[in-house]
Amino acid sequence: MTAHLKQDGPVEGAALDGMKQGLLGRPVPRIEGLAKVTGTATYAAEYDVADPAEGVFVTATISKGVVRSIDSAAARAMPGVLAVIDDARMTTRAAQGTAGEAPQQAPQRVSYWGQPVALVVAETFEQARDAAKHLVIEYDEEPGAALDPATATPEPQEDEAVNMGDLDAAMQAAAYSVDLTIETEGHASAAMEPHAAIAAWEGDKLTVHASLQMLNYNISELADALGIEEENIRLVAPYVGGGFGSKLGISEDVVAAALAARELSRPVRVVMSRQQVFQCVMRRSETWQRLRLACDGDGVLTGFGHQARVSNLPGETFTEPVLQSSHFLYAAPNRSLSMDLVRIHRMTAGSVRAPGEAVGMPALEMAMDELAEKAGIDPVAFRLRNIPDRDPEADLPFTSHGLADCLRKGAKAFGWDNGPRKPRQRREGDWWIGTGMASAARVHNASEAKARVRLTAEGRAVVETDMTDLGTGTYTICAQIAGEMLGLPLDRVTVALGDTDHPRGPGSGGSWGAASIGSAVYLACKALREDLARRANTDEAGLVMKDGAVEGGRCIADLLGGETLEELGHYEPGDNEDDFTASGFGAFFAEVRVNHWTGEARVDRMLGAFGFGRVLNEKTARSQCLGGITWSIGTALTEALHFDPRDGHLANPDLAEYHVPVHRDVREVEVLMLEERDPLASAIQAKGIGELGMCGGAGAIANAVYNACGARLHQLPMTPDRILAGLPA
Ligand code: MOS
Repeated sequence: MTAHLKQDGPVEGAALDGMKQGLLGRPVPRIEGLAKVTGTATYAAEYDVADPAEGVFVTATISKGVVRSIDSAAARAMPGVLAVIDDARMTTRAAQGTAGEAPQQAPQRVSYWGQPVALVVAETFEQARDAAKHLVIEYDEEPGAALDPATATPEPQEDEAVNMGDLDAAMQAAAYSVDLTIETEGHASAAMEPHAAIAAWEGDKLTVHASLQMLNYNISELADALGIEEENIRLVAPYVGGGFGSKLGISEDVVAAALAARELSRPVRVVMSRQQVFQCVMRRSETWQRLRLACDGDGVLTGFGHQARVSNLPGETFTEPVLQSSHFLYAAPNRSLSMDLVRIHRMTAGSVRAPGEAVGMPALEMAMDELAEKAGIDPVAFRLRNIPDRDPEADLPFTSHGLADCLRKGAKAFGWDNGPRKPRQRREGDWWIGTGMASAARVHNASEAKARVRLTAEGRAVVETDMTDLGTGTYTICAQIAGEMLGLPLDRVTVALGDTDHPRGPGSGGSWGAASIGSAVYLACKALREDLARRANTDEAGLVMKDGAVEGGRCIADLLGGETLEELGHYEPGDNEDDFTASGFGAFFAEVRVNHWTGEARVDRMLGAFGFGRVLNEKTARSQCLGGITWSIGTALTEALHFDPRDGHLANPDLAEYHVPVHRDVREVEVLMLEERDPLASAIQAKGIGELGMCGGAGAIANAVYNACGARLHQLPMTPDRILAGLPA
């Protein structure tokens, strides 16, 4: 049976809080943790598939043109080589809305340097890699490809534009104002597990083990790319070694493995090299953001302007949603927001963790800091003064709003000195020390989700869905919700994820995973409780269960009398999405040191305070925040994709030259979770958590760099050369 909820308004809040098992919210260690640390959790390339052939990509060495010819004779003559595949469908990124449009045969169009154009398949990986170097590829290169976003022609994105009141007049009349442009550079997802797939056909049935975030969607993409029915595809991805957006859609490895396996009538494995992951998996666009902020003598914002420019490939529709939280974060009657897109030949721009806010929020918060300084107001007080009661553009109430609480409690916990602020006040040897802060905001999304929960005759619960866990803790929170609702300890709950043979989950992305799939599990368990309550001669609300038994009564197996019960939980957001603005909020506080001679900046200490509804698991939620803050450090100080201006190739396609913060870069980080119940956000009163921890954090670090050494930078990352150039004489 199906327990369906389309959420049109607030959900009843008490249900989960009234349970007795005591699992929910607790810092339960990951239930799959042992499998992961002992190496028995199988990632995409590790499945024991019989006799797989190995495929290695060959990638384009031009940024724009067509493949005129591929001479594979030499490669085919090499030891162990089985096939050379150059089907254009292989490089079709269905994820980007181009599926089905590409012709199946050559000529293949090349849109960026590093695009896969052929797959060499051999008996062993080494043979394939060797032969891949012996393809002779000729291109008809089209000269004059737009490679530089700074000189390409912008296309205004009309549906992003907001104009309210008169911003120009507000800027003129303002007691204080800032008008500045901040640049951020491109980012890579840099997930630890490379993109990989093993495809195997049995007749017309295809099974693919791959590293994917959204099986519910990926199955349609793959069906589309191959021109086959979804019913003939099974995708399997129980463990995913990070995705951060790069695995929201299928990548070339999945389609190429499927095509090669069909041609060879044999399983084929394709694993991208680290360099290939960098070169052809989607990037975060670089951005240019003009911020115009105006306030009166009391520090009340009167004007708010945010103009953003981002880039993508020709034909792609994704635009880094830089303005996402600017629309509602601060009140100001005169508003102007707009977005431009430039078309350039770099790999596809797409979702990279916290698309939009990851770079939009730091820029906004850097501008806020400059205005607070001009107005002579403490930055925390300045933000508190400008929190709106309702969404200032959509004129909607918020589902819940934790910003003020996070600002106040975060400041207190950090030891924020809310006196007047001046840069260059503290020096220790060669190092300037300073502090800075920023608000955090990230829209909350929920998504349709289905999960099946089975209660076996022995009194065990089994949760099944094609939802993925990319390291975030999904297995564990599903087990906690089921155990809590059904009164079962964790060792009596099994969670099976990442298989399209199970009901469709929401996939992992946009921070919607836990709240959405958690709601589906909750609904299924609630229906099971109704059945159990009937058997126990009570009603669902009155059913108190713990450790596999009704409190003071019969055990579950006894109630079931040999039967197995099964319910499908089906959650869908409804009118709640249209009638309210939903966001997670928070505040960042950073203490940094900047070397006077080298310009090197180090984050000594950082604190994030976050309000995002119910916390399902204190440990995994905190880990998400720690991860987000780590990304904040990377965004602020080190992470940038560098493209060669001559031919457009990515110059730093590896983890040595694209520096994500490592252990030594991340010192003292404190996370304060200000738990609340948001009955409008999801059936379990939880909001998204995953991405909030990096939505503004780089701004706090930039503001701390200024406070430390006096360098006001308008470019991220703040590398030593930039900081040195920005130091006051
Ligand atoms: Mo996320 S960037 O939606 O995985």
